[in-house]
Amino acid sequence: MILPIRAYGDPVLKKVAQDIEPGHTGLKQLIADMFETMYAASGVGLAAPQIGQSIRLFIVDASPFAEDEDGEPTEDAHLKDFKKVFINPYIVEEEGEEWPFEEGCLSIPTIREEVKRQPRIVLQYQDENFKEYEEEFEGFAARVIQHEHDHLDGVLFVDHLTPLRKRLLNGKLRDISQGRTEAKYKMRFPMTK
Ligand code: NI
Repeated sequence: MILPIRAYGDPVLKKVAQDIEPGHTGLKQLIADMFETMYAASGVGLAAPQIGQSIRLFIVDASPFAEDEDGEPTEDAHLKDFKKVFINPYIVEEEGEEWPFEEGCLSIPTIREEVKRQPRIVLQYQDENFKEYEEEFEGFAARVIQHEHDHLDGVLFVDHLTPLRKRLLNGKLRDISQGRTEAKYKMRFPMTK
């Protein structure tokens, strides 16, 4: 089932999400619904708060970045198999010199801004069977995880911008929260009746 994606301004996007216990009711269906929702919106990552659930869960599928329009492998060909479920993820280490990349977010349609992040992380997490991992990620994979992990702490990519840059976006952000935007997928806006 495709779920509506919560738009900028929704209070659930600002909350710190809660850990999930094994046996969490409806978890398997929720994960399936999140993949369906993410694919319908052509996203590469989706965090549970974005569909209104304040729990520590996000999914990624960065395989679209492994091929160009002609189906040829790109320099990110290793991302072909980067489809994963992350439960109770915590970044325990971040290192390296920050690098800029233009990020977007399904909760903030049409806005893309350069965000600087460190290139290497160590992540503790559990998979959908609650098996525990501690794993290192680099480059674009680390970037996607950092963005989604932020969602679980109530942080959006626009929160990383300079105060001036963010102020320049204020009008657009207000429009999005009020439903004045052109998203081609199902959304729920906090400031509409
Ligand atoms: Ni996002």
